[in-house]
Amino acid sequence: MENESKSIRIQTERSGNREHSTPLYLTSSFCFEDAEQARSLFADEEEGNIYSRFSNPNTSELINKMTALEKTEDGFAFASGMAAVFASFASILKSGDHIVSSRSLFGSCHQILTQILPKWGITTTYVDTGNPEGWDKSIQDNTKMLFVETPSNPGLDIIDLELLQSLKKKHDLILNVDNTFATPVLQNPSDYDADLISHSATKYIDGQGRVIGGVLVGRKDLITDVRFFARQTGPSLSPFNAWVLSKSLETLSLRMDRHCENAALLADKLENNTELENVRYPFLKSHPQYEIAKRQMTKGGGIVTFIVKGGYERAGRFIDSIKLASISANLGDTRTIVTHPASTTHSKLTQDERDRVGIYPGLIRISVGLENIDDITKDILQAIEAST
Ligand SMILES: Cc1ncc(COP(=O)(O)O)c(C=O)c1O
Repeated sequence: MENESKSIRIQTERSGNREHSTPLYLTSSFCFEDAEQARSLFADEEEGNIYSRFSNPNTSELINKMTALEKTEDGFAFASGMAAVFASFASILKSGDHIVSSRSLFGSCHQILTQILPKWGITTTYVDTGNPEGWDKSIQDNTKMLFVETPSNPGLDIIDLELLQSLKKKHDLILNVDNTFATPVLQNPSDYDADLISHSATKYIDGQGRVIGGVLVGRKDLITDVRFFARQTGPSLSPFNAWVLSKSLETLSLRMDRHCENAALLADKLENNTELENVRYPFLKSHPQYEIAKRQMTKGGGIVTFIVKGGYERAGRFIDSIKLASISANLGDTRTIVTHPASTTHSKLTQDERDRVGIYPGLIRISVGLENIDDITKDILQAIEAST
């Protein structure tokens, strides 16, 4: 079955009510037929639901779809994308281990690597996107994992997954990819032997800005450790959010087509605007990693960024001049969203850290929605004009 069909047709088994659409299993626990069944379920001799912190038909449906779409063996659903990313480190690594990571990361991922994991003796070396030789050079005897977000939030840096595939093989490492921006529609990191793939399902997987959620899929043996970690520590996704996210997956491929089409048209329109510096979109020829993006993604994604001439103050005026789009920190919604990363999503980084990943004071991130492209373009252009 093709992925579009899988995201629609993978479904929890029908109950005795013969429902067409999977119902919401809003239950914290499940009943046992008898004492023997309770014993055997807890002893892992029989498969089945026990308690919704461990599993639930709604979370299982979402996991089954994501596992199929990402062409991986197993998965677990989390209460947020950050819980999924954190579990990808905390359930696998131990004190003394070392991670080599791309420097261009979502703010909270950066905080986990620099502020939280070092408390438990897990250290990280960053590699700059412009210095791909840095990956091999940064690998030490105690390196266990390569971590990468591609395209990155918000810089839209593209990391060469083919390069990481060869390094992973050469040094016997775990390749851990945050695939939030691309979604399985545009890119499958498992084609490059990724062992773990995380998603903030809050973004395109929901796609309508309603729920927070995360998914981690990957190699069966690693997900067994992830499941043990999650079962004991409790970051599981709620059945309600899983139900919403699984329904959303039915339209993911259609939505991604339109997000990408609108974003490409907007990027084209903005590229030669004299009020802007550095318009970025992975499928613009001017993107520094255009060739890599073309090789590993089927379309350019739904995010466009640019730097307004005039820095921090002008960026504020641009945001305040927006009429149609929403001013919000989220992305991947049907509605176009404008964000100023330096003062919001990446404000916890120092300016030096921000500069190193291209989050300049005038950077604006546009999550291009599904509205008519003429309306979106008109709004962005009038806000650029009004902010001069
Ligand atoms: C690339 C990426 N990874 C992870 C996250 C965290 O996801 P969540 O907000 O669902 O915890 C985000 C959120 O913006 C993100 O953009």
